[in-house]
Amino acid sequence: MNILLIGSGGREHALAWKMAQSPKLTNLFTAPGNAGTQELGKNVDIDTSNFNEVKKFVLEKNIDIVVVGPEAPLVEGIHDFFLADDKLRKVSVIGPEKDAAMLEGSKDFAKEFMMKYKIPTAAFKTFDKSNIEEAYSFLESLTPPYVLKADGLAAGKGVLIIDSLQKAKAELKEMIENERFGDASRKVVIEEFLSGIELSVFVLTDGKSYLILPSAKDYKRIGEGDTGPNTGGMGSISPVPFADELFMQKIEKRIIKPTIDGLQKEGLRYKGFIFFGLIKVEDEPYVIEYNVRMGDPESESVIPRIKSDLVELFEAVGNGSLNEKTVEFDEDFFASVFLVSGGYPGSYEKGKVMTGLDETDDCILFHAGTKVDENGRVVTNGGRVLAVTASGKTMKDALGKAYDNAEKIDFEGKYYRKDLGKDLISE
Ligand code: AMP
Ligand code: GLY
Repeated sequence: MNILLIGSGGREHALAWKMAQSPKLTNLFTAPGNAGTQELGKNVDIDTSNFNEVKKFVLEKNIDIVVVGPEAPLVEGIHDFFLADDKLRKVSVIGPEKDAAMLEGSKDFAKEFMMKYKIPTAAFKTFDKSNIEEAYSFLESLTPPYVLKADGLAAGKGVLIIDSLQKAKAELKEMIENERFGDASRKVVIEEFLSGIELSVFVLTDGKSYLILPSAKDYKRIGEGDTGPNTGGMGSISPVPFADELFMQKIEKRIIKPTIDGLQKEGLRYKGFIFFGLIKVEDEPYVIEYNVRMGDPESESVIPRIKSDLVELFEAVGNGSLNEKTVEFDEDFFASVFLVSGGYPGSYEKGKVMTGLDETDDCILFHAGTKVDENGRVVTNGGRVLAVTASGKTMKDALGKAYDNAEKIDFEGKYYRKDLGKDLISE
């Protein structure tokens, strides 16, 4: 199998690392990739938002499967582009078609879908310029904090949680009238605030059958104790201790199954990963959001737990035979700690030489914002630089190993959170 993987983050390095272990893999290309994916195959410099460029490469290299890491190409319709082209139709694309990718591409679409299929989620209403006065009244009917969500993709920044009614109204006006998030905030979803603890659950589906992957928890804020601004994710752990068998059964029955059934009833074709962003309120699961891809930084602790051959699973997704497959997991705990550049998520410098990578042991290093410079050195090339993943019989062991190794790696301005998992370990 020749595979083209699209993306450049830690998630893509984790996917590449796993696929590279498959005897079925012949050639792996990652576009654009990073210093980690470069070790496992070839990084290719093509503009993946230009589907004709992707087509040229796919035909030239006889690609069998295209694995799409991030959401943007899916929301822009890369899968549909392949299906509409006689030469590309036989190539499997892992990631949903455009209409189904709306589960992530439009919050309003996702909420309407959940309402229709009775999937538990926060109560909501959607507003635009035509009914902004009603939006103000709706806000008045709610109790704080107020949750405002830009309808469209806003690079993870489109959700505002605001304590004061006055500020919420002002922000709403900013979003709708002044298009604070561009086109994405022309429509705004206002939601009931749910109070609880979040977790992420993933499935791989061919549109009919699905396999549930391990649960994970990510740490989004920059500061310890979940303080400071949001980031792309400062690390993750898997499994989530409170997601026990009973809770996972509730998730499957009330959320996963109705989602897959709903997609089929709506005629939405979905081959790929579904990411359920969930929150546990009391003992019940609710959906905060859908994403149409794997999570990052969750992939860095979830993917290494998969024991089965991922290329084989992708093949089954492509030809619709996932019902014949099972998936096995490592029962150990996995923890993944992100090393980030000083200043991130604000401004930061790139090009810092990284040392100590070879001194690490009993861990996996997943590169995100790294590259190999002209002198062959690995240097920083982004805000989130590298995820250090380790495993152990307990979460504490896994975290201990990840932190020991995180210490060994250095670059100017290195920062990482030292409190991952502390919210989940009771002793
Ligand atoms: P989203 O982009 O929809 O995942 O929202 C970003 C973050 O905002 C989530 O991870 C939650 O921490 C928070 N959030 C979103 N919706 C709600 C809600 N209805 N109640 C409480 N927190 C929320
Ligand atoms: N971990 C959150 C995300 O991937 O969007």
